[in-house]
Amino acid sequence: MRFFENQPLVNNAPEGRVEGVAKVTGSGKYAAEYKVANQCYAVLVGSTIAAGTINRIHVEEAKELAGVLDVITHLHKPIVPGMADAAKIKESRFGLPILHTDTVYFKGQPIAVVIAETLEDATYAASLVWAEYTTREANVNFDQLHPGVATKADGKERGSVSAWADAPYKVDASYNIQHEVHNPMEMHATIAHWESADKLKLYDKNQGVNNVQRIFAKLWNIPPANIEVISEFVGGGFGSGLRVWPHALAAIMAARQVNRPVKLVLTRPQMFLLVGYRPQSWQQVQLGADSNGRFTGIRHQAKHSTSLYEDFNDGITRVTRMVYQIPNVKTESANVPLNLSTPTWMRGPGDCTGAFAVESAIDELSYQLKMDPVALRLKNLALTQHPESGKPWSTNFLNECIEKGAAMIHWQDRQPQPAQQKEGDWAIGYGMATGMWNAGRGNAGAAIKMQPDGTITVQTAMTDIGTGTGTAMQNITHEQTGITKSKIKIELGHSTLPAAPSQGGSTGLSSISGAVVATCNALKQKLAGYAATQEEVYKSAAPADILLSDTGISYQTHNHHFISYNSLFEKNHLTEVEVEASAGPGAERQQYAFCSSAAHFCRVKVNIKTGKVKIDKMVAVVDGGRIVNEKAAANQVSGAAVGGIGMALMEEQAVDHRYASLVGNDLAGYHFAVNADAPIIEVAFINKPDTNSNPSGAKGLGEVGIIGSAAAIANAIYHATGKRLRNLPVTPDKILLA
Ligand code: MOS
Repeated sequence: MRFFENQPLVNNAPEGRVEGVAKVTGSGKYAAEYKVANQCYAVLVGSTIAAGTINRIHVEEAKELAGVLDVITHLHKPIVPGMADAAKIKESRFGLPILHTDTVYFKGQPIAVVIAETLEDATYAASLVWAEYTTREANVNFDQLHPGVATKADGKERGSVSAWADAPYKVDASYNIQHEVHNPMEMHATIAHWESADKLKLYDKNQGVNNVQRIFAKLWNIPPANIEVISEFVGGGFGSGLRVWPHALAAIMAARQVNRPVKLVLTRPQMFLLVGYRPQSWQQVQLGADSNGRFTGIRHQAKHSTSLYEDFNDGITRVTRMVYQIPNVKTESANVPLNLSTPTWMRGPGDCTGAFAVESAIDELSYQLKMDPVALRLKNLALTQHPESGKPWSTNFLNECIEKGAAMIHWQDRQPQPAQQKEGDWAIGYGMATGMWNAGRGNAGAAIKMQPDGTITVQTAMTDIGTGTGTAMQNITHEQTGITKSKIKIELGHSTLPAAPSQGGSTGLSSISGAVVATCNALKQKLAGYAATQEEVYKSAAPADILLSDTGISYQTHNHHFISYNSLFEKNHLTEVEVEASAGPGAERQQYAFCSSAAHFCRVKVNIKTGKVKIDKMVAVVDGGRIVNEKAAANQVSGAAVGGIGMALMEEQAVDHRYASLVGNDLAGYHFAVNADAPIIEVAFINKPDTNSNPSGAKGLGEVGIIGSAAAIANAIYHATGKRLRNLPVTPDKILLA
């Protein structure tokens, strides 16, 4: 990854992450790395059938082993009040009624939990548990089932559904994306510790401690405050930590059962099964344009897989209704239940899936029209208002993203016709696509604690899953207070800290930055109150009048009515000053529509003999509002681009339709992009603040880093070879056979 040379790094760039040293030295603890006194280990036993009923579970042999403490099944378990009956389970929105049903919905569904003194004992004992079943026919064949499932209209229909068909230029094509799996480096893990009958402490890998707290408070019928959730370091999520999954409940039940702290860590194969995935999908895009290249109509149908016990909807068609000005729009969707576990949001979720199809169709149309794909998009952007809601965009600089990206990839070097450029056996091609994401914001809280020496600690319950949220919080606190960054400590991911939304959907910084600004103002106000006991002028001071430094407080200009923190603390008999504040969206969210956007460009080489694709260079230009920390932001976008490469070329979880099994469900069998697959990735930002979004002007940018990137790659492969690949991943065989 390298930054765009002509773009000077903005503020805050050169320093490392606030958590960097802790991560690289190993002192930062991930969920599974805690050791609680007297803890024991739990291992899940999965069903060996994919559909049916459990008639009997044989646990006797496992239970007799030395070191085994107990084996939980749906017939032998502690009482979970929120799962007492089917209605309660549904109301809890927990999803899988783990250990509360004899129904098997998918192969590998946890049917028992073995608890033992050591991980080895528990693992061995789990291998001895087996069940007798009544087996029903399982179906995991999405391609076979989806034609029988009708789509329903979603979103707001505009104009006529058939307008696209009357256009002189049109594309009518279907697109397929295989089942993909998040696979963050860190395994999902839970250590559950009942400190008393109604007090629970959890070390847990997730993307939102307050969400975990809420869900389990409901299930166990205890106040949320009685559940402490610690997720201080999170080794990646990609969406897998946005939900609370069965293994966490299994750990809590196990701890209840044996009345000891229990650690449960998923194995890598279980990570493929029990913490969500990007559902397999089929899409049909019908898009028309007039002879000037104006889009006249689009119909977008999308279907994706879900489980039999939950109707997860990924929202594939949303992006179709927001990027371009199209007079006639109809979007439709459906979910297709299979004997698999429930999918969930993954890397730019449904919008990323949808953008692949729509941005591929637009590219195809550009060749029919003999128009440059860049010019075609610029002509059709809906830059002034959200085309569905009609609300004015607060800010939308997608046009600038496209123009800047075209310059960075040297788009002018591209030949208009496909399959024109070769280097030996390698065909060269250029491709581009756009991405957009609804830039949201939630209510978030933060606290600041100040010591007499002027060091401060900024705290929030929000997690940082590797995006740099903590670093950005430090940057904003520095900007707001003037206190040196090295004196600003950040504490995250603990449910006893001020409540905050989960980190996901590109809303982390957008939500927390408002809280940090509010808390900095609260600190200034509180210090002014103490200062007023020494200097009259502070009595009516507003936060804007207060200047802080590393050593003390001043009024309006530095060193004016200066009072050192030492003196302030001493005179007011303070050992620590603490403030807390929260902030969230307001009326501006009714008035404006919000989006982040990106333009993705790439240059590929395709080997005409082997079908191998090498990505030469990728460019991502992002409008994420003001960029608080360019290093962390660019890091996130380049990481997303690597995800885009995986999606475009490699990622595919094979499912054996005969046995309803995942195949190759480990990191040897499931391919994603690694360092050797990652080209030079150039990232640039528009970096214009959106002051309606929140006080920091940031809009959030994780999702748009990947939304559209797979289409840019497939479009480049077409330009290189003249072969239009509409099914992901584009593996070499597909190129050779096309
Ligand atoms: Mo995500 S899919 O925004 O964690």
